Amino acid sequence: MIYFDNAASGGRKPDCVQDAVRSAIKVCANPGRSGHALALSCALAVQAAREELNRFFGGYSYERVVFTKNCTEALNIALLGTLKQGDHVVTTPLEHNSVLRPLEHLKQLGVITYDVCPLSSDGNVSPQAIAALVRPNTRLVAVTAASNVTGIAPPLRKIRAMLPDDTLFLCDGAQGGGHIPIDMQGAGIDLLTLAGHKGLFAVQGSGALLFSERVNPEPLFFGGTGSLSLSLDMPDFYPDRLEAGTVSFPAISSLLEGIRYLSAEFEHAQKRTHELTAYLIDKLSALPVYRVYSRPNASGIVAFKHENVQSETLAAVLSSRYGIAVRGGLHCAPLTHRALGTLEGGLVRVSFSHFNSKTEIDELVSALSALQLPDAFSDLL
Ligand code: ALA
Repeated sequence: MIYFDNAASGGRKPDCVQDAVRSAIKVCANPGRSGHALALSCALAVQAAREELNRFFGGYSYERVVFTKNCTEALNIALLGTLKQGDHVVTTPLEHNSVLRPLEHLKQLGVITYDVCPLSSDGNVSPQAIAALVRPNTRLVAVTAASNVTGIAPPLRKIRAMLPDDTLFLCDGAQGGGHIPIDMQGAGIDLLTLAGHKGLFAVQGSGALLFSERVNPEPLFFGGTGSLSLSLDMPDFYPDRLEAGTVSFPAISSLLEGIRYLSAEFEHAQKRTHELTAYLIDKLSALPVYRVYSRPNASGIVAFKHENVQSETLAAVLSSRYGIAVRGGLHCAPLTHRALGTLEGGLVRVSFSHFNSKTEIDELVSALSALQLPDAFSDLL
C-alpha cells in the first residue's frame, strides 16, 4: 500500500522509535511509582522526554510538560482546566473538533462564550480578524499551528502581537508539530498541545500539553501520582497535578526517540514534505477534473476534489483499486469545510511524511488521471 494518510497518523516510524518501543515492552516498570532500579530508569527516560519536548518547542520548563494519551486530551485539559465562568474565547474556522467541541460544551453549560473569526480570501486567518473579536473578557485565543484539511499555517507570531498581553494564547500543534517550527517562548504561546503519533514520529497514545507560568490548568482527572500519597488532594505542583494514573511508558519512550530523530532531521524533513506537496499540486493542475485547495506547505497536506465524485467515494476507490491510502470526508473540521464551501462532498486529503517519494506520487497521479474518465466509476452506480 502507498500510505498518504500521515496527517491522520504517521505511517512509518524511524528505526530508533521502533527499537525504543520494542525495548519498552520487553520489560518496563512503572515510572514514578516504585523505587527499584528498573522503575528509576523508566522515570529517568520519562524525565528526558519532558526535557526534550520542552527544549524542542521552546517551552517554559520541563515541569510544565504533561503527558496525555493524545492531543484531544491535552486540549480538553487546556480548555476545561483553564476557562472560568464568564470567559470569552476567540478561535478560527481552521480548528479541529478537538478544539471546537470542548468550547461548544463549555458554551452550552453557560460557562463561556466564543467567537470564530472569518477566513480570509487566501484560506488563512488574519491577525486583524482575530484581534477585531477580542473583548475585555477575552481570556484565551485558540489557533491551530496548521490546518489538518489544507495544511495552511496561520501567522502565530503576528496573531500574538495583536493580542492584549493578558490574553492567553493556545496553539493546537496536532498537525503543525514536527512539521513547522513552533517556539512557545518566541511566539508567546501559553498553551501548546501535541499529537506524538503524527509529525513527531511517535506511536499512538503519546500526546502532550506544554504551558507557561501564566496559566495553571486545573486537573480533569484525579488519582494516584506516586507523590504526596498521604493527601487526598491532587498535588499542587506540575506535572503531577495533571498526570493522574500510570503514564504510557512505551508511548513516552517513542516520543523521546521521535523528538531526538526530528531534532536531527527537521530541516531535511520540512524541505522534503514541502517539495512533495508542490510536486503533487503541480501535477494536479494538469488534470482539469480536480480542484486543489492547498498551496505547497511543510505540513505535507494536499486537499482536492473531483468535480463529479464525492471525496469519500474517490478515497475508497483509491484504496480498493489502487492500494493508495488517503482520507476523504470532513476530517473532523466542519468549520473549515463550511468556509471552503466543501461541506457537501468533502475533500480528498493526501498527507505526506518525508519518507514518501515522488515515484509514489506518480502512481497516485496516474490513478487520478484514469479516474477522470466519465465511466471510471460506472461499476459503483
Ligand atoms: N485529526 C486527524 C486527521 O486530521 C485524525 O485525520
